[in-house]
Amino acid sequence: MKISERIETTISTAIQAGRGGIAPTKLATALDYAVTPGGARIRPTILMSVAMACGDDSPEITNAAAAALELIHCASLVHDDLPCFDDADMRRGKPALHLAYSEPLAVLTGDSLIIMAFQVLARAAALTPYRAVQLIEILGTRSGMPYGICAGQGWESEDQIDLSAYHQAKTGALFIAATQMGAVAAGQEPEPWEELGARIGEAFQVADDLRDALCDEATLGKPAGQDDLHGRPNAVAALGVQGAIKRFDDILGGAISSIPACPGEAALAQMVRAYADKLVPAGARTRSTVPGE
Ligand code: IPE
Ligand code: IPE
Ligand code: MG
Ligand code: MG
Repeated sequence: MKISERIETTISTAIQAGRGGIAPTKLATALDYAVTPGGARIRPTILMSVAMACGDDSPEITNAAAAALELIHCASLVHDDLPCFDDADMRRGKPALHLAYSEPLAVLTGDSLIIMAFQVLARAAALTPYRAVQLIEILGTRSGMPYGICAGQGWESEDQIDLSAYHQAKTGALFIAATQMGAVAAGQEPEPWEELGARIGEAFQVADDLRDALCDEATLGKPAGQDDLHGRPNAVAALGVQGAIKRFDDILGGAISSIPACPGEAALAQMVRAYADKLVPAGARTRSTVPGE
């Protein structure tokens, strides 16, 4: 089965489990709205690619890990769009969930998806208990405080932002979870995989800054120009378009050379390169300024 099919099937099974019985109808349909159609699914794709590079000897636990990671990511987006955070009206080309449903339902959808993620891993514990416990620990660390998404979002309420800690926690954490969970799902130790995740996360943040500056809302499927609008420090403001692209290429080169030795090392490097090409906006490599300058 293709990676994308494995991801979609496992997410859909998890969502169905949360919609059974006499569950409240609006919240049940909101769960589906939050996860489909998906975005790039980059985090579970990286997770599965790492697991496959390490042998993927227990595919069911890899599937569970990938679904759990993407459920946390989707939850973070639902909460992030709420008026009390970014007050964004569009996500993945559709009205943000709090506009399609309501603010209480958006809070509850995010909460339900977070809980569901850990339930998926708990159920998978029947297969390989030790791996499941390690996966729960990694996902918890990279979602909560002090190193996870909660910490990342929390920095936005501080008077002084530590930019590097902010980006590492807000964006980098789930990429570290992706590489480490992929390794653990295949029976490997997580530590050697941290650097690859951190570097991919850093490169992703620079690419995200480029997309925010260069693409329009229709292309992104979410509001564009947000960094400029909110006066957020970002790679394009600091380095210019070509400087940001050079930084992206440098970080990515470091990411590829940090891939730990494993049977599928070459295929994994190829996958990282292929994804990187998709991350930089079309035409960005030949332009020097952002639109309007
Ligand atoms: C968006 O992540 C949130 C950030 C950390 C910038 P993605 O760009 O991976 O979003 P989707 O999942 O493809 O919609
Ligand atoms: C959202 O971050 C990612 C989370 C960790 C919740 P941003 O607010 O920077 O990303 P977008 O632009 O809404 O996707
Ligand atoms: Mg935000
Ligand atoms: Mg946002």
